[in-house]
Order: sequence, then structure tokens, then C-alpha cells
Amino acid sequence: MDHFLYRDGALFAEDVPISEIAAAVGTPFYVYSTATLLRHFRLFDEALEGTDHLVCYAMKAASNQAILKTLAQAGAGMDVVSMGEYLRAKAAGVPGEKIVFSGVGKTELEIRTALEGGIRQFNVESEPEMDVINAVALSLGKVAPITVRVNPDVDAKTHAKIATGKSENKFGIPIARAGAVYAHAASLPGLDVIGVDVHIGSQLTELEPFRLAYRKVAELTETLRSEGHDIRRLDLGGGLGIPYTRSNEAPPLPVEYGQLIQEELGHLGCEIEIEPGRLIAGNAGLMVSKVIYVKSGEDRDFLIVDGAMNDLIRPAMYEAHHDIVPVLEPAPGVEPQPYDIVGPVCETGDTFAKQRNLAPLQAGDLIAFRSAGAYGAVMASEYNSRPLIPEVLVQGDQFAVIRRRPTFDEMINRDTIPEWL
Ligand code: LLP
Repeated sequence: MDHFLYRDGALFAEDVPISEIAAAVGTPFYVYSTATLLRHFRLFDEALEGTDHLVCYAMKAASNQAILKTLAQAGAGMDVVSMGEYLRAKAAGVPGEKIVFSGVGKTELEIRTALEGGIRQFNVESEPEMDVINAVALSLGKVAPITVRVNPDVDAKTHAKIATGKSENKFGIPIARAGAVYAHAASLPGLDVIGVDVHIGSQLTELEPFRLAYRKVAELTETLRSEGHDIRRLDLGGGLGIPYTRSNEAPPLPVEYGQLIQEELGHLGCEIEIEPGRLIAGNAGLMVSKVIYVKSGEDRDFLIVDGAMNDLIRPAMYEAHHDIVPVLEPAPGVEPQPYDIVGPVCETGDTFAKQRNLAPLQAGDLIAFRSAGAYGAVMASEYNSRPLIPEVLVQGDQFAVIRRRPTFDEMINRDTIPEWL
């Protein structure tokens, strides 16, 4: 459920008409709903009620500080994967003890920055990384809390580019080697080994892969405990999928996911951490764009819109589907017609949808790409020298620009020209 609904024929974000935001900031832009962000965060928080837990929002999904602050004020921790994310979370006021550091390639600088600024734990992804964290911690006179991310060799049954839990993926250490790796970790004085971490992929639309992975984590936890490790925290990753179409998809709900966690892991008495990103932000955001031209091709009509693959890369990169809706609700009975919806970037890949049925549109009409709140703005680029598009946050009847559109000069003047030219 989200808060982007038609009222009297016009699309609203909570209590603000989308057309009003478009008039104020120009198109294209991203708009997020505070109520939807909070609702989705609370679904997870409530799903783990009764268990000692922390929901660490995977801020790679949407990392604007206003979004982070909204969630942090509701009690969320953060899952970060880079120094930039770590510093951004800190800048948004998230305390170090609520920040988890994930990612396969943490550098010494990143590790030192997090140890100095405060960190809840590092999720360690390899033996060499473990040794570096140990060395950096010792050099600072600190002890680094860690979990080890294990690769359970489970098929997440999602798009190959976002599946992470199979043995051929670069993530985690093979679960079969976990005993040796934990023994090594325990021998390192700069580390405090507190738990186990797993994350098998993103946009999972079934619970079964989670069950298989968590069952392996439970077995591993018992083995590790019997070997003398004080495993007290389980980080279960993110990955719960969202409906990208309004009609026929019904991925499992956070409450069902919470029940599964309880069933598979409850008996261990561990503190539970989860790292959802997409489910919190995905359906809390739209990308709004304007039709520039309607162009008749040989056998089809193209809607050429002012948003492009550099602004929302998911369709080009993952063949992802985003529902596209007109900002003015079509009158009842209007016959839809098929369009190819494309951006102005000079690649055929800059196609958002093919032969999508929409009520007839004209140049100047506004459309909204739904489910664009996660992995939308954060994956944008300036390809074709198109400045990053603004982000807007709505709360009730208020809205605020939370990242403004840069000027062309700001974008161009980042280049420097060598003296010899
Ligand atoms: N934790 C870790 C360690 C992750 O790598 C990820 C996502 C998450 C949590 C959050 O997963 P989520 O709950 O959002 O599914 N750009 C792609 C998605 C990449 C996901 C990467 N890792 C897309 O647009 O579909």
C-alpha cells in the first residue's frame, strides 16, 4: 500500500497534487511519501515485535539524508556499504552504534573511518578483509565487532544480477568453511566475533529461499556455539520483494517473513537484525516525467518523455517493469492505446516500456513511474550531460525539495581543463 492515489481525477502524493510539485520544481523529479516510508519501516519493526531486534535500512536503496532522518527518527538503524554511505548516515544524525557496515570490498580508510566514528558491527566478507579489520582496530587501540557473512549456496530465484547467495557469487564465505574462518577470527585480538550474517539477494518473491538460508544459519550458529563462539546476533540481510504491478503480484508480507524468522531462528535467542531496502523505499517513491513528443513510427507510437535511462536505469539494466500512470486520471471509458515509452538518450536501451497500454497522451502531459523509490535516484547518472534530477519529500500537505536540481554550470564546471589546452 502506498500514498499515491487519484483524488478528483488528479494524482496526489499524500495530500499534495503531483502537478503542483511539477509546477514548482520542473520535470523530471523523484517524489517520496513520508507516510509510505514510515508504514513500510513499521511493518518490519512490528513483524519482529517480541524479539530483540534492529531494522537496519539498506540505504543503498534511497540515501537522501531526509529519507534517512525520517526513518532514523522512527528507530531505524542503517546498513551501509561504503564510506560515502557511512558519512551520509552520520550526517543525517544516525549514531554509529546503529550503523552496520556491509560490502565485499571495505578499504582500510573505510574501516578506520567507521571505527573512529562508531560502528555497530562490520559484516566481514572474506579472510583477508578480516585480517585488515583486525589490524586497523589494533592500530587504533579498539576492538571491532564483527559478524561473518556466510554464503549458504541458496538460489534466491530472482534476477541473476541481484542474486547473491549462490556459491558462484562473490559474496560471503562458503558456509562449509565457516568453522575455520570463525576459529581464525576468534584468534585475532582486534575482533569481537558477535554473530553471523547472510544476505541471499534482492526482490525475492518467495519465502522458501529465505527459509533454506536461515535454516543453514541456525545449524551453523549451533555448531559455532558448540565450538565456543558466543554467537549472539544474527544479521539476516534484506531482499524481500515488492509488487511492481498493481494487478497480479503478491509477494510475501513482512509479517509472514517475521514469522519465518521466528520459526527458523527463534529458539536461538539471538538478537535479530534485518537490512531491508527496497520494501521500505520502493513503493514510497515515483519518478514524474513529462511527455515531450508523441511520435508516430512505422508500426507504433512512441511517447518521448523528459526522463531517461540515466534518471531511472532499472528497465534498461534489469528489464525491470515499472507501472506508468498518467498524472491526470483518464476519464472512465477512454480507450487505452499501446505506446513505447522512451527517453531522449541516444540509445535504444533508453526504453522504459514497450507497447504499454495507456489512455491517449499528448505533449505536455505528466506521467508517473511507480515503484521508483528504491534504486531510482541513487543509480542515476549524468549520462548525456543530463543533470541529476531533484528529489522531493512529501509529508501530509507539505512538500520540500530534498535535493535540488543542479544548474548546468555546476555540472559543467566540475571538469577542469589542463593548462596545456
Ligand atoms: N543487504 C545487503 C548486503 C545488500 O546487498 C542489499 C542489496 C540489501 C541488504 C537490501 O536488499 P533489498 O531489501 O533492497 O532487496 N539495484 C538493484 C538491487 C540491488 C540490491 C543490492 N543489494 C535493483 O534495482 O533491483
